[in-house]
Amino acid sequence: MAHLQYFLLLLLLLPSLSWVYPAQGSRPRCTPVQHGSGSGLTILHPYGPCTPFSKSVSWDDMMLGMVGRDEARVLYLTSLAVGGKKKKKSFVPIASGRPTIQSSTYVVRVSVGTPPQTILMAMDISNDAAWIPCSGCVGCSSTVFDSANSSSYKSLDCQAPQCKQVPNPSCNGSACSFNLTYGGSSFRANLSQDTLTLALDTVPAYTFGCLQAVTGTSLPPKGLLGLGRGPSSLLSQTQDLFHSTFSYCLPNFNSINFSGTLRLGTASQPTHIKTTPLLKNPRRPSLYYVNMTGVSVAKRKVNIPASALAFDPTTGGGTILDSGTVVTRLVDPAYTAVRDEVRRRVNGTVSSLGGFDTCYDGQVVWPAMTLHFYGMAVTLPVENLIIRSTSGNISCLAMAAAPANVNSVVNVIASMQQQNLRVLFDMPNSKVGVAHENCT
Ligand SMILES: *[C@@H]1O[C@H](CO)[C@@H](O)[C@H](O)[C@H]1NC(C)=O
Ligand SMILES: *[C@@H]1O[C@H](CO)[C@@H](O)[C@H](O)[C@H]1NC(C)=O
Ligand SMILES: *[C@@H]1O[C@H](CO)[C@@H](O)[C@H](O)[C@H]1NC(C)=O
Ligand SMILES: *[C@@H]1O[C@H](CO)[C@@H](O)[C@H](O)[C@H]1NC(C)=O
Ligand SMILES: *[C@@H]1O[C@H](CO)[C@@H](O)[C@H](O)[C@H]1NC(C)=O
Ligand SMILES: *[C@@H]1O[C@H](CO)[C@@H](O)[C@H](O)[C@H]1NC(C)=O
Ligand SMILES: *[C@@H]1O[C@H](CO)[C@@H](O)[C@H](O)[C@H]1NC(C)=O
Ligand SMILES: *[C@@H]1O[C@H](CO)[C@@H](O)[C@H](O)[C@H]1NC(C)=O
Repeated sequence: MAHLQYFLLLLLLLPSLSWVYPAQGSRPRCTPVQHGSGSGLTILHPYGPCTPFSKSVSWDDMMLGMVGRDEARVLYLTSLAVGGKKKKKSFVPIASGRPTIQSSTYVVRVSVGTPPQTILMAMDISNDAAWIPCSGCVGCSSTVFDSANSSSYKSLDCQAPQCKQVPNPSCNGSACSFNLTYGGSSFRANLSQDTLTLALDTVPAYTFGCLQAVTGTSLPPKGLLGLGRGPSSLLSQTQDLFHSTFSYCLPNFNSINFSGTLRLGTASQPTHIKTTPLLKNPRRPSLYYVNMTGVSVAKRKVNIPASALAFDPTTGGGTILDSGTVVTRLVDPAYTAVRDEVRRRVNGTVSSLGGFDTCYDGQVVWPAMTLHFYGMAVTLPVENLIIRSTSGNISCLAMAAAPANVNSVVNVIASMQQQNLRVLFDMPNSKVGVAHENCT
């Protein structure tokens, strides 16, 4: 197989923030840079100065907003984890919209069509779906895919097997079209195929939803690229090319250039890396479940009830890795135990801010934290553990309890806790690997 290079620009979708802007005079690097000859994709942090979504937001507003979006996200993930009495196996090219869009934090720049049109898509490892705002779409953002300009574009007809996998399909003419509704919003899309280009890799006849109409207030600003492992995901559609293997390194939250890499395929993946088995929940085939067995704070194993961490496909309980949630959520008894141990270790007066309940004014020394997985321990650098303001002196433990909801049984290891780690998803060997990597 040819040694391919990937060249994608990843950006967080959220607005940029003044508090993480670089000092005056230091010009950040805003064009993606090829990393060696491996299959590296450049990742930029959306809070950074290079984001196209430039809008200054105060730190407090950002915190409140972020935790609010996370709340919706975690409820959504919970519904994914718990749902499925009806046992719908595949989610071909559909995003559930709102909960996903609001907090899918990284977007991938890909090319679609012939000749290629550049499109930003939110990267979401907990979804299989893919959709793109298409030309003629009523209510979509201005960044759309012009299907009429692409010689390889094809709208799937109602007889296509993929059409049986989408929700609410309808046969309009002969085209397979489907609707998605949630809250006060709804989408209509054509089930379509076209060439997807990821850096230098070409995926012919990639199946996705071509958005035709969006109504309601929750406007999806960009396309969505699901990196879930379900039967109709990008990974499933690219078995021959990527062998269901990818890894990413998310850039540091406070890094000036905010660049990291995403690697698709088996080439140039780390070989010496600690791993833990991936667990399969047949009810939720897209989600990346792992066996988190405990948490240590300052090398002391926190006393967490086993039931708070146990994998249970029936209830959806257990632990997943997610790229769309920003702050790690632990189910209540686990979070309380961890937080209390952190508080015991930090010498200071606890305050709260937004959704964070363990904040301190002034300088404090935070303890190290280690997440224990079956066969693998990951010690988090302090930057992955706390959120700090630059203007004030406030720092907060960047974790929270799962939303107060009867169904909140899933622990979510979120993107903030994955900064500067190479996280490898290896489906053929059914494992997840984590290694420290400075990917700024
Ligand atoms: C960020 O990019 C600028 C310009 O290329 C470079 O001078 C600087 O060293 C980079 N900073 C980091 C932390 O990589
Ligand atoms: C589509 O083609 C037309 C005519 O060639 C061109 O003006 C337009 O910019 C193209 N749109 C895109 C998105 O490439
Ligand atoms: C069917 O397609 C037409 C345009 O060709 C569109 O106006 C109409 O809303 C579509 N109906 C459904 C149910 O998708
Ligand atoms: C979507 O399907 C409708 C018919 O349902 C068709 O009129 C329209 O041209 C299609 N648009 C695209 C971009 O495929
Ligand atoms: C799908 O959405 C369109 C408007 O976007 C609406 O006209 C149509 O009735 C909807 N169809 C279904 C089955 O909900
Ligand atoms: C998770 O690990 C624990 C021990 O470390 C083990 O007892 C348990 O069976 C594992 N769970 C699964 C689902 O593999
Ligand atoms: C906590 O702070 C107080 C006052 O600054 C100091 O006297 C005490 O030794 C500190 N305790 C620890 C455990 O650092
Ligand atoms: C931060 O704390 C230091 C010392 O504790 C103090 O001198 C400074 O004024 C504080 N800054 C702000 C913005 O509160």
